[in-house]
Amino acid sequence: MRILFFGDIVGSPGRRAIQENIGKIKQKYRPQIIVANGENAAGGRGITEKILKELMNLGIQVITMGNHTWDQKDVYQFIGNFPNLIRPANYPSGTPGKGYTIINFNTHKLAIINLQGRTFLPAIDCPFKKAEEILESVRKETSNILIDFHAEATSEKQAMGWFLDGKVSAVIGTHTHVQTADERILPKGTAYITDVGMVGPYDGILGMKKEEVIEKFITSMPQRFEVDKSGRWQLNAVIIDIDLASGKAKHIERIFLNQEKTIVDNLI
Ligand code: FE2
Repeated sequence: MRILFFGDIVGSPGRRAIQENIGKIKQKYRPQIIVANGENAAGGRGITEKILKELMNLGIQVITMGNHTWDQKDVYQFIGNFPNLIRPANYPSGTPGKGYTIINFNTHKLAIINLQGRTFLPAIDCPFKKAEEILESVRKETSNILIDFHAEATSEKQAMGWFLDGKVSAVIGTHTHVQTADERILPKGTAYITDVGMVGPYDGILGMKKEEVIEKFITSMPQRFEVDKSGRWQLNAVIIDIDLASGKAKHIERIFLNQEKTIVDNLI
């Protein structure tokens, strides 16, 4: 089973980068399931129903979220209507929406679980214990399991990778918007990367206009951050191959594209 996972889609530049490249990426990598983190898809803050449908129409089957899940107020109304829009599972019980989904591919199943870290992020329930709890029931249905661990600290993400090695097919990090070059298959068969990176502006700071961010660092005064729509785009993703008999990962590969390094160049 081949999965294509797009890192955090940031605002309209990110959505446009997906739109313009997804066809070529599908053609080259032939993924069977496509997942994306969409928590920054609406102007960098959350997701709207319209944008969610737009992304799903492009062939993205599952959208994961993170600390910006609730930024668009309409999300409370529609999150329950889309079983493949998932938010971090370790939010307190009673939170709208759900933290994992199981999708079908031919006669096979893939579980996708969204978790959020607690280091430099809000103090929600323990992502490690929540992972164990969900795995207990999910494993009865499938051993093909992908985790989007939306977290800030590299140490917390590595800890999750090692904690779940051999228990899930992949632990994929999101949230920092910067792709890390540490993709690997851990010894017991779990594909791991600390952060996939983002799909969005290339010239801003984590996708936002750089001037305001620099100003904030210098003055410590509050600033309103906006998605940088002026410059070039980047597209970060990973491809993961899972052995269907065992649920273990066989291969993980980073994709990094921008205007200078397009999928056409990649094909040569
Ligand atoms: Fe985030």
